[in-house]
Amino acid sequence: MRQVVATVISNEQLWGEHRVLGHLKFLGAWLIWLKCPEIASEAKPGQFIMVNCGEECLLPRPFSIHQVSDDGIALFYAVLVSGKGTSWLSRRKKGDTIKLPSPHPLGNGFSIVSSSKNLLLVAGGNGIAPLYFLAQDALKGKRSVTLLYGTADNKRRSIPPHIKLVSATEDGTVGHRGMITDILPDYINWADQVFACGPLPMYQAMAHMSELKNKPVQISLEVRMGCGLGVCYGCTVKTRNGLRQVCQDGPIFELDDVLWEELADGGV
Ligand SMILES: Cc1cc2nc3c(=O)[nH]c(=O)nc-3n(C[C@H](O)[C@H](O)[C@H](O)COP(=O)(O)OP(=O)(O)OC[C@H]3O[C@@H](n4cnc5c(N)ncnc54)[C@H](O)[C@@H]3O)c2cc1C
Ligand code: FES
Repeated sequence: MRQVVATVISNEQLWGEHRVLGHLKFLGAWLIWLKCPEIASEAKPGQFIMVNCGEECLLPRPFSIHQVSDDGIALFYAVLVSGKGTSWLSRRKKGDTIKLPSPHPLGNGFSIVSSSKNLLLVAGGNGIAPLYFLAQDALKGKRSVTLLYGTADNKRRSIPPHIKLVSATEDGTVGHRGMITDILPDYINWADQVFACGPLPMYQAMAHMSELKNKPVQISLEVRMGCGLGVCYGCTVKTRNGLRQVCQDGPIFELDDVLWEELADGGV
């Protein structure tokens, strides 16, 4: 596929508050809809796009495809404090155009086994980004979806409809008080497959969970990317099967394939 120029349909701030997650500081979360039917028609849940974020950013920035419609895609993105690319994106208005410089969509995407009926989705914070699309897709296939959604507090949006939602908040304002991984073991037996997206500590906690040892678990890995095309090797990670490029071989990996202790703190 060739480079795409997408038009902004809408760009809405979902919440706007200073938050800290690991070593990353956020200003809030936005939902942007882009008109690009050529990507919408090909996208699979778990895939991502590279976005040219204005002249100040030499390198494009990767974002998961959050939702699709007939003629466009949505991105759910968190604006980083001193994040040039995400702040630029948050200032785009309806009718602006955005360049998506690579062939799209990128990455391998999640894969649902045809016999799987019960899908357990685990979102930590902004990790809801790729899981919304996965939930949409799974429901079309008449599967049962349970979403475990862990956030700092009750200010979150973009929850897929027609799923069973189980919440955990660190401040206890909705659902379980604490981390989403505290309640994850209660749902594992029910699930045929588990899919997760969240910060590194969430994955590290999951990797140590004995209940998950014999369960197929796919996770979306977010690391710093340069090209998104397999050229710069900036996204290389160590796995049990050797070195892998997240942009080409991922971003979806089996949980027990990644050598978690070798990864620097990133996060979504
Ligand atoms: C496959 C993939 C999918 C992604 N999907 C989404 C998504 O759907 N929504 C979303 O909000 N974000 C997503 N991200 C993360 C997003 O790409 C970054 O937040 C974005 O590139 C930051 O750009 P920026 O110019 O605003 O910040 P920068 O100016 O590039 O960085 C600001 C500060 O944050 C640090 N930083 C930024 N990103 C990371 C990171 N990944 N790990 C560690 N430190 C980092 C930088 O080192 C710097 O200190 C995804 C990343 C990948 C690899
Ligand atoms: S981002 Fe350049 S090789 Fe993956």
